[in-house]
Amino acid sequence: MVLPSRPVHYLIPMVAFAATVLLLFHLLDFPTPTSPFPTTTTTTTTTTKTLTLVPKAKHPFTDLISAYSQWDAEIGCRHFRDGNEWKRNSSSPIQELEGGSGCAGVGMEHVSVLVKGWTWIPDNLDNLYSCRCGLTCLWTKSEVLADRPDALLFENVMPPAVRRKGDPLRVYVDLEASRKPSGFEDIFIGYHAKDDVQSTYAGAFFHNNRNYHVSSQKRNDTLVYWSSSRCLPQRNKLAKSFLSLVPHHSFGRCLNNVGGLDMALSLYPECSNQDSALHWWDHLHCAMSHYKFALAIENHKLDSYVTEKLFYALDAGSVPIYFGAPNVWDFVPPNSIIDGSQFSSLEELASYVKAVADDPVAYAEFHAWRRCGVMGNYGKARAASLDTLPCRLCEFISRKGGRNAGTL
Ligand SMILES: *[C@@H]1O[C@H](CO)[C@@H](O)[C@H](O)[C@H]1NC(C)=O
Ligand SMILES: *[C@@H]1O[C@H](CO)[C@@H](O)[C@H](O)[C@H]1NC(C)=O
Repeated sequence: MVLPSRPVHYLIPMVAFAATVLLLFHLLDFPTPTSPFPTTTTTTTTTTKTLTLVPKAKHPFTDLISAYSQWDAEIGCRHFRDGNEWKRNSSSPIQELEGGSGCAGVGMEHVSVLVKGWTWIPDNLDNLYSCRCGLTCLWTKSEVLADRPDALLFENVMPPAVRRKGDPLRVYVDLEASRKPSGFEDIFIGYHAKDDVQSTYAGAFFHNNRNYHVSSQKRNDTLVYWSSSRCLPQRNKLAKSFLSLVPHHSFGRCLNNVGGLDMALSLYPECSNQDSALHWWDHLHCAMSHYKFALAIENHKLDSYVTEKLFYALDAGSVPIYFGAPNVWDFVPPNSIIDGSQFSSLEELASYVKAVADDPVAYAEFHAWRRCGVMGNYGKARAASLDTLPCRLCEFISRKGGRNAGTL
């Protein structure tokens, strides 16, 4: 086998361990430039399964496809797969779709869910689904189509305080960091595996009707994309400190440095969306795809709270620079993101980002998972997303007995 001409840089295991230890003590603290980041240690240990090449080249390339070709010639999928053989994680923080018990307990052949109160649940999730175990599942916002539903679903709207036997089950959804049950639901849906039904953010239904053009040309003058419109003080502070160290564009309301909210369209006319009045987020994916990196900072640093901010960037082919869930690696493909918490300072992170940006082979390696099919737990994270929620919820309702479920 031909080995890569560059040294492969394995720094995850010690750093990850140090990060875990530190995070135990700083679970709810958001990293700030002054917080004690774990020290990045360079090591040649080979027990690890991830991390990217040490950037070496000084070539501020723009063409992504030719970067891929260079990586193919120097490294290649076979070597990447060998180096990233990913252990199936039996204690993964993602619910098993099969529930371990096969189809036992799925007693109903058809379940209907009426979406009764909502703020963001997308209309086009409405469908009649064919699920596993011979179950069909009607998910609808129409009281005409589901006049006698087995369950009522509420999102950001309180369910009725009382349920009598024979009434539909009450389902409550809260995917926010707070994950707060209403107190009146029979079934709770949150982002965490401990909730009755889990819904990760790794789903296509979180972004509808947008422009999905993906640019093959990356900017080499401005490296980092950021957009945020809830200017939370901690997030803003971290973003400001980091962005001051790297050439960037900020498109949202917070720290906007491009001259307004719709500037992405002047910069990238191909990102317009003919058929709808545009919000700046309608061209978010397309705009992001012009940058080598996208900064993604969660509003809370919580176990398993990995949101669309990260998945949008992966979907758009922009490498996320991530600050958030300590267990983020359980939700993303191997070698797909730059985890800010693994650097000893923002300066060190910034110089790493700049070095990767100038090395087509090191940069292309962040896209290898998609091109070589090395997914780790990412397949599971996607399979447990909003996209598959209807079938998974209907199955849960069926196991409970639908309207015939007992009352508490
Ligand atoms: C497996 O999952 C557990 C729980 O989230 C985590 O602590 C551990 O680091 C994971 N192991 C691997 C190899 O990813
Ligand atoms: C960016 O890329 C272009 C086209 O490949 C190249 O001509 C230019 O020198 C690069 N810019 C920088 C800052 O090196």
